[in-house]
Order: sequence, then structure tokens, then C-alpha cells
Amino acid sequence: KVKKTTLGFKKQKQQNERCVMVTAYDAPGAEAAEAAGVDLILVGDSLGMTVLGYDTTTDVTTADMIHHTRAVKRGARDTFIVTDMPFLTAQGSQDRTLDAALSLIQQGGADAVKIEGAGSVFQKIRMLTEGGIPVCAHLGLTPQTVGVDGGYRVRGRTQEERETLLKEALEAEKAGAFMLVLECVTEETAEEAARLLQIPVIGIGAGRFTDGQVLVYHDIIGQFSGKQAKFVKQYADARSLIEQALLSYTEEVRSGVFPDTSHTFEPLEHPGGLYGG
Ligand code: KIV
Ligand code: NA
Repeated sequence: KVKKTTLGFKKQKQQNERCVMVTAYDAPGAEAAEAAGVDLILVGDSLGMTVLGYDTTTDVTTADMIHHTRAVKRGARDTFIVTDMPFLTAQGSQDRTLDAALSLIQQGGADAVKIEGAGSVFQKIRMLTEGGIPVCAHLGLTPQTVGVDGGYRVRGRTQEERETLLKEALEAEKAGAFMLVLECVTEETAEEAARLLQIPVIGIGAGRFTDGQVLVYHDIIGQFSGKQAKFVKQYADARSLIEQALLSYTEEVRSGVFPDTSHTFEPLEHPGGLYGG
């Protein structure tokens, strides 16, 4: 298998081939994603909720992202890896952004970084791209800013929001982003963005007509607690499978069913005399 490139993703769009992205946070998850033949893996800062037990993404650090990107890399050496820039690392000084992105690339082994937001973020996208770090933009619902912008709701429903989103999408492309993730956006708005942009527009909760889709690994396999978003399709019930397995193990240890002789080591020769009789 040959690892795809940013140019390859653009070509895929030109040829009307849908792009498949999935998150992963560890080696076995990455291995499964690579085996399924996804186009690229996102080490999302959803890591905070899916794996680290936080309520939001804002507690996730650059060190966390490096640690998990390295694990993903070991599980999927031939798949393009995008790693999220954690909360506030694309804000403030250019040096701060550069340091975070550089460490995700050099220490983590990511092929690209993803940055949420608009405004001053576009300058950061330009800086990183010009320096040689591919950047995936992320607009629409941006989980890192739900504290200030009205939480988890669909974007692009009003004419004003729609126009703003499309303007930002074009700006992200102009700044040099190689890909754009649109989260929780009306189908019509996302379709228009995909039509306007040369770069692939990857949707999550953005309807049927983007250039590709991304979903969170644990949502796909059904390993989460709490409420599932409308845009998620759950393809398996890993949580109950895992809980059932652990319950059976617990019961069998307590009742003495496990281990049995098939799990037990015997000596090659049975000792005679004193103990063997
Ligand atoms: O962190 C994440 O998983 C993401 C995707 C939902 C796009 O940013
Ligand atoms: Na994210």
C-alpha cells in the first residue's frame, strides 16, 4: 500500500472519488483503520472524550497529541496521518503555533495538522503551509470554542451564517489548506462549499454531498457512553461486546470455570517419588 499525499487527495476530488477519514488514537485502532483501507487517519483531540475521560477537548495537551500520534503511527505506517492542534495552540503568537505544529510533525510523526476556526487562524494556516506543514482547516461547529459560540448546534441555517461559512471556506483554501473539515453544517451549505473549493471538503454531520466523510472511531464501533449525535452511524456495538466479555470473565473466575486444564501448564515429565507417588 502506498501512502496518499495532499496532491493525491486533490486528484481524488477531481476524479469524484469520495475520501474516507476516520479518527484513531492508538495502535490497534490505527491498524484496523489501515486494514479497512481508509484514505487518511485523524488523531483528533476528541481523544479527550473518547479515550482520556474528559468532558471536552480543551484539556487535551500537545504532549497528549504527540503521545497518541506516535501510537497511531506505529499501527498505520502506510496511512496519511492528520493530528489536531490542541486548544489555543493556533492562537496567540506565531511562535507558539509553529512550536506546537513542529512537535506534532517531528515528535509525533504526523503528516499534517488540523486547525479549528477562522479569523487570525488563516494567517497561521498560511505560515505553516509556506513553511512546509500541510494544514487541514476545520469550520462550522468547532468543539474547541463551544464555550463562547453557543455550543453544539447546526451551522449555516441562516443566510448570514451560510454566507460567512462559505467566505471562510474560501479563505481557508486561499491560505493554503489542503483539506477542509466541515462539522455540523446544513447539507446545502456543505454542498456549496464543496462546489466552490478545489480542495476536498470532508463532512461530519454535513450531509451527503461533500467530497468525503469523517467519523469518530468510537462512534463507528459503538464504544461510548452517553448520547449519540444525529449524524453518527453506529456500525457495531463494541461497548456491550466488551462489557459482556468482562462480565463472563469475572463470573468464570469467581465460579472456578476459568482457568481449566486447557489454560494450564503441565511439566514435561511427571515427577516420581516423593510427590508423584
Ligand atoms: O477531534 C475530532 O475527532 C475531530 C473530528 C470530529 C473532525 O475533529
Ligand atoms: Na478535533
